[in-house]
Parts: sequence; C-alpha cells; structure tokens
Amino acid sequence: MTVASPLPYSDNEIQALRARFDNAGQGHVFNFYDSINEDEKAELLKQLMKIDVENLNKIYDKAIEGAANALHSQQGNSLQPLSTEVFDSVLKQDPTQLKEWETLGLEKIAEGKVAVILMAGGQGTRLGSSDPKGCYNINLPSGKSLFQLQAERILKVQELTQRYRRDGQDVIIPWYIMTSGPTNKRTFDFFTKNNFFGLKKENVIFFEQGTLPCLTMDGKIILESKSKVAIAPDGNGGIYKALQEKGVISDLKRRGVEYSHCYCVDNCLARVADPIFIGYCVSKGTDCGVKVVGKAAPEEPVGVVCVRNGKYGVVEYSEISEETAHERHPDGSLKYNAANIANHFFSTAFLERVPTFQAELEYHIAKKKIKYTDLETGEQITPKANSGMKLECFVFDVFPYAQNMSVLEVERHEEFSPLKNAPGTGADCPETSRRDVVAQHVRFIEKAGGKVMRTTDDYTELMFEISPVVSYSGEGIEHIVKGKTVKTPATIETLDDLIRVTC
Ligand code: UTP
Repeated sequence: MTVASPLPYSDNEIQALRARFDNAGQGHVFNFYDSINEDEKAELLKQLMKIDVENLNKIYDKAIEGAANALHSQQGNSLQPLSTEVFDSVLKQDPTQLKEWETLGLEKIAEGKVAVILMAGGQGTRLGSSDPKGCYNINLPSGKSLFQLQAERILKVQELTQRYRRDGQDVIIPWYIMTSGPTNKRTFDFFTKNNFFGLKKENVIFFEQGTLPCLTMDGKIILESKSKVAIAPDGNGGIYKALQEKGVISDLKRRGVEYSHCYCVDNCLARVADPIFIGYCVSKGTDCGVKVVGKAAPEEPVGVVCVRNGKYGVVEYSEISEETAHERHPDGSLKYNAANIANHFFSTAFLERVPTFQAELEYHIAKKKIKYTDLETGEQITPKANSGMKLECFVFDVFPYAQNMSVLEVERHEEFSPLKNAPGTGADCPETSRRDVVAQHVRFIEKAGGKVMRTTDDYTELMFEISPVVSYSGEGIEHIVKGKTVKTPATIETLDDLIRVTC
C-alpha cells in the first residue's frame, strides 16, 4: 500500500522546480529541504512555485544596471528643469484661476468621474509600529488614526460636491486602498471595526499589491527561515500591476471613473480628492499629473520632478550634483525646486496604457536589514546592518511615458507632513504630524477672521482640532468665528461644537 504524500505537488513537479532554481543559480533555497518536516516542505514549495525565478534574476540585473546608469547620468549633464508649460503653482495663481480649477474639480467629482487611490502597502519599518501606518494614532485630541482623517476628508468632499450633482443622487468617491501581504488583513479589520468611518462599505475597495523575494547584495534569494523565502512588497510602483491584475481598472470603468487622485497613507495633511488639483489636471488635459512642494533648501534630501534625458522623471537627491542642486533661475528661485511628495493624478486611459510599457520599468534597490537564515548553520540572524535588498518599483517610474504631464506646486505647510520615523526622532515623526495638523486647524480659524485661545504655543500639546467633516480646507466656518475667539481645549466634530466653544 502506498501512503499518499501530503505534499501538494508530484515528484516530477518538485524535480522540475528544483532544476529551475538550480539553473537560475538559486538552488540554495532547497538547502534545508531534506531536514524540514512535510508541512514545512509544502509551505516552501507553494512559495517557490509562485516565484518566476528567471524573471527575478532579470529584474535584479536591470536594477544593478539602472543604479550604475543613475550614477553615470549624474556626471553627464542630462537634467533640465520643468518648463513653464507643464508647471503651475497655487502660490502664484490669482484667486479667480484657483476658483475655476476648484469648480471644475467639484463638477467632475459630482458627476462620479473621480476616484481616490491610496498607497498603503508599505511596511513602515522606520516608524516601527506593528500595525499598518494608516491605523496610527498621531496623538490628536480626538485620537483619530490617519485612515480616519482621510476617510473624513472624502466624506466632506462628497458633501461639498453634492450641490453640483444634477440628478440629486448621492455623490460617490470610490476609495481604492492598496495593501500588501504585511498590511492587508489588519487594514481590512481596522476598517471593519470602525464601520468604514461612515463611508459605504461597497465604495471602499481593498486590493493587494505584489511581492518579490528579498535578495542578498549579490542577487541570491534570502531564506527567512529554513522553509520560507524572505519577501517584501514590490514598492509603491507595484500599484500599476496590481490595478490591472486585481480588477481595479475594470471597476473604475464600470463606475464611469475617468480620473483618479493617488496619494500616500503617511501624509497627515493629504488633501484627499483635492478638487483644485483635479480641476487643474482636467483643465490641462493631463494624463499623468503630480503635486509638488518647493524644496526647503537646495540640499534637502528629496527627489525633484524634472526632465532627464528629454523625459519627465524624478531625480533622487543622491543622483543630483551639489552644483546642479544650487542652480537658480534669474528671479532667484531654484531651478530644481519641485520636490516630489508622491501625490498624483491619473486618467483612467493612462492607467490602462501602463501595460504597454510595464516591462520596460526598472526596479530600484532598497538596501535593508533583512532577517536571514545562515545557509551553513541554519541559524536565523536578525542583522544590525543592511544585509540585503528589496526590489521596488516607484509610483513615479511611469512619468517618462506621460503624454501630457502637468505639475502643480502647493504649499508645503498646508499639504505635506509625512510620517516616516519613530516617535521622538524630531523629523517626519508622530509629533511633527500632530503639530502640523493642529497648526493647520488654528490657521483655518485665523484665516476665517477668528482667534484660537492658546494655552501653549506648542502645537504638539495644544488641545485643538477640527474634524475634516466640519471643514476640509478652512471653508464654511467664517460665519461662526469671524471676530471671535475659539476656546480651548476643543475637539470640534460638528458646527454645533464650534458654536459652543466660540465667544
Ligand atoms: P515609503 O517608501 O516611505 O515606505 O512609502 P514605508 O513602507 O511607508 O516606510 P519604510 O520605508 O518601511 O520605513 C511611501 C508610501 O508608499 C507606500 C507606503 O504605504 C507609503 O504610503 N508603499 C510603499 C506601498 O504602498 N507599497 C510599497 O511596497 C512601498
């Protein structure tokens, strides 16, 4: 009598798999195969079956080549700043133009032609929280998470656009949330536990991005344990593949969505579904648009949007020479000033076109501390220094393929405050996020002609907050606060709350 193997594959399939990995120079993934139990064997085989090892080697080779070319292009002077035809700034526009863009954006949203796409697949290693970044509580008086702030901004824009809807139906802004293996379940559970923050469940759509094996510096697949390959999400540029493969593009078309606003989960000031940005891009016939902020200083370590070898792209701070970074226009402004904040506009037609050039997109090397299993001893090591690389595509890698690019500069303190680092680090950390949200809410009151009673000038402590459901960008409060003082502490969730604390 033969005992059925619990392994999900036949001996022939397993042999063929081993041969493929051997031929690709990655046979070490079977190093411990004979010493692990049947369940572990099944786990490993399942994982390996899904890996296109030949393609992985190609991606690695191309990434190494790309890194070398980037260094080279820093030496050759192939960079050019953005021309005025593709660049506009809200800081320099007259209010009538801004209003026109905003109205157009509101109309398109009201017609149901706009969706929001959130990139929330990152592992947030620098922040060091075990939950997905969007669940993070930045210590606002309300205790709201980043996800909740974003959901409330969507709710508010839906409400603001309702009067532009001709048939009286509810305005819907579908929210597509990209997660990854490490963030998917906990993100979904968080939304479920919080009743989707008041949004309709059917309009919040989760989709998972792809992963790639982590590699050693010389391109060998890293084993996290004896029966498991170390894997990581394939970068925020993994969004394009995932949008296709997970049926998001079909869903956008089914809903009649023509434009999407795409942004990062970790920006507490992100103006989600920003009508001005949407109207601006639509008015320009943009297929691929990007919001930027002015660089804080020539040496600020951010990527800048510019033209490289005749094509739009983002040049990382490490790829730009000091001299170029300091170049200025005759009016004194920096030539390379358009700091990328990963905030995008895409036409659905553009997203549909991505597969025609997808294979040309390069992966980038992100060196990281990756847990690995010593191939000789079988011991699992948690390294203190970078031990390997993740291969990542970036969301801006598609810029060179844009047919009609537009770039809009916005005010940094109104729209950009990223949460990257652990508490207490002093920059791009939970304290700066809280500070920047509270400071903005104080400005809302001041711009509306009111004052906020300050018990402290330290916005990491001041107990004051206005829900986005009350005001998205400072609108709708002037009639209450003009010429008056708003008492603190105050956590304002409704206009009635605001009336109560204003005197
Ligand atoms: P970062 O590159 O800052 O990465 O992501 P991260 O995962 O948040 O943080 P670290 O580097 O591990 O500390 C910028 C944005 O891109 C998203 C993130 O969720 C964040 O919104 N992202 C990043 C993805 O959606 N997928 C990825 O594979 C990587």
